Amino acid sequence: MSSGEFVSNCTADSLAQAAQLLKDGGLVALPTETVYGLGADATNADAVARIYKVKGRPADHPLIVHIHSMHSLGDWADEIPSYAISLARDFWPGPMTLVLKRSILAEDFVTGGQPTVGLRVPDHVVALALLSAFEKIGGKAIAAPSANRFGHVSPTTAQAVQEELGEFLEDRDQILDGGPSTVGVESTIIDCTSDAPRILRPGAITIEMVEESTGLKVSTSKTDIRVSGSLENHYAPQASVFLNRAPLSGEGFIALADVQTPENVTRLASPKNVEEFARVMYSALREADVHQLKSVVVAEPAGDGLALAIRDRLMRASKGR
Ligand code: TXA
Ligand code: MG
Repeated sequence: MSSGEFVSNCTADSLAQAAQLLKDGGLVALPTETVYGLGADATNADAVARIYKVKGRPADHPLIVHIHSMHSLGDWADEIPSYAISLARDFWPGPMTLVLKRSILAEDFVTGGQPTVGLRVPDHVVALALLSAFEKIGGKAIAAPSANRFGHVSPTTAQAVQEELGEFLEDRDQILDGGPSTVGVESTIIDCTSDAPRILRPGAITIEMVEESTGLKVSTSKTDIRVSGSLENHYAPQASVFLNRAPLSGEGFIALADVQTPENVTRLASPKNVEEFARVMYSALREADVHQLKSVVVAEPAGDGLALAIRDRLMRASKGR
C-alpha cells in the first residue's frame, strides 16, 4: 500500500524538492494556519484532476488557489474591486479567501467551470516557503482544498492527513509536517464580485473585521455561488454529532473547560476559550472515531465572530454523512 512520503523536518532543501514535485505534477499536502491542504500545481490539469480523485470530490466543486503574496492577485483575477485590495492588505497572509472574477490563468479545471476564482495567501511559514520555492522554479500557485475525503472532517495535523488520505496517495506524493494548525477552522470565504463583500463561509476573519477594513456593509443577500463547504452534510466524523444536549453514558463530549463531564462520558476536549475551541474541535471529532464512539455531544460556544464559524461547521457535522 502506498502512503506518500511523510516529511517531518521541512528544511529549505526538502521544500525545494517538494516544489519540484509539484512542478512534476505530484501532490504535496501542506500545513496552513487554518487546516492542512492537499496541493497541486494550479496550472496543471492532470495534477489537479488527481486532487479530485484522492479526495473523492465531485469535479464541479472549485478549489482555492494559494498564492505567495497579494502581488500575484492580478495574475489570477480580473476587475478587482478596491475593497478587495483593502481586504488583501489587511488580512493576507491570513485565514481569508477572496472570490474574484477569474483571469485566463484560472482555468475550468481549478474553478469548477465557474467564472470566478478563490484566492488565498496562507499564514504559515512552511506554506509560504513552499510557495516561494515553487515560484523560483517558475510555478504560479498551488491549488489546495482541505486534505480530507469529501464531506469528512478537515485535518489540522500532518498525522491526520496521513490517516485520512495516505492510502490514496502515490509513493512520490508528499505530506509536509508543519505542526498543528493554529486557527483550526477553514478560511472565511468572501465573494468580491459585486458592489459589496458577501461572506460565503464564516471563519476567523469576521463580519466586523470585513466591514471595518472595507468601510462597506457586508451583504447577506442570497447567492447562487456554489460552495461545497456550505453543503449540509460536511465536516462530519463517523460518529453521529449531537448539539447542546446532556451527554449520555458511553457518548463522547466536547465543551468549554468550565462545563463538567457527567459520569461514563468520554471527554474529548475542554478548550478554555473560543480560539482554543476552534483549534481543537476537528482533532476532538477525529478522536471520537479513534475511540469508536457511536455518538458525540458538543456544547457549542455562544457569541459571534469565531464562535459563528464554529457553529456553522458543527451544524453541518451534525447532519451526518
Ligand atoms: O482554509 C481554507 O480555506 C483551506 C486551506 C487548505 O486553505 N482550504 C479549504 O478548501 O477549506 P476546501 O476546498 O475544502 O474548501 C474551499 C471552499 C469550497 O467550499 C469551494 O466551493 C469554495 O471554497 N470555493 C473555491 N473557489 C470558489 C469560487 N470561485 N467561488 C465560490 N466558492 C469557491
Ligand atoms: Mg474542505
